[in-house]
Amino acid sequence: MLAWYRDVGVDEAVGEAAVDLTAHHPPPTPASAPSGAPAKRSLPDGAALLAGREAVGADARTLAASAATLAELKDALCRFDGCPLKHTATNLVFCDGNPRADIMLVGEAPGGEEDRQGLPFVGVSGQLLDRMLAGIGLDRTRVYITNILPWRPPGNRQPNAGEIAVCLPFAERHIALVRPKVLVLAGGTAAKALLSTTEGITRLRGRWFDHTSPGLAAPIPAMPIYHPAYLLRQPALKRDAWRDLLTIKQKIGTNSPVS
Ligand code: URA
Repeated sequence: MLAWYRDVGVDEAVGEAAVDLTAHHPPPTPASAPSGAPAKRSLPDGAALLAGREAVGADARTLAASAATLAELKDALCRFDGCPLKHTATNLVFCDGNPRADIMLVGEAPGGEEDRQGLPFVGVSGQLLDRMLAGIGLDRTRVYITNILPWRPPGNRQPNAGEIAVCLPFAERHIALVRPKVLVLAGGTAAKALLSTTEGITRLRGRWFDHTSPGLAAPIPAMPIYHPAYLLRQPALKRDAWRDLLTIKQKIGTNSPVS
């Protein structure tokens, strides 16, 4: 049983009791099931699935757009039930840093430590991120940090397209409310989602793009960079990452010395 848990990505206990996910969406009982016979679970057809997904997407867009402040946006996420990751996560991970900062960094999704603390980038890759920021004279009092997904995918797996799509209106609203001078997109997931592209991070990194969204009066310059977790696995790429950080430093004009 433990081996099976490990294989499906269950790598830690997050509560005393199991969460019954089916309790939120009880399977329909087919009308034609003969009494006494076990009810067969009927799967929704493709059209019903699509309609359901669109309804959740519309719900996310309406809720996100209705938030006039960061506190309201966080509250909207707490009330939003359209992303199943919410039910497996321990905490909502909304933000860290200074909401009035010129620079806003967006990552992918919380990992285990972030999920425990309810703060983005506080695990091992967060420590590297802090060193990268310090390299260009920045720290969390001068940067605002969030993720595309506010809930941890189980076992730190990559978020899937549906999870990204349903959380994107909140991330876009988050950016529109902070309105930073510069966006830094850490990793391919954030870059692709916020720049509406399918290009990989190797081609995107180090270049300036315009981030736009329906709630944004003017585009925001955005630079994709390698994700710190990727740099931990590929240290040879730190050279490129350093170059990208210097380009960002030049754009925002920080005066602090480069170490
Ligand atoms: N990786 C991310 O993308 N975000 C976090 O908050 C932590 C790790």
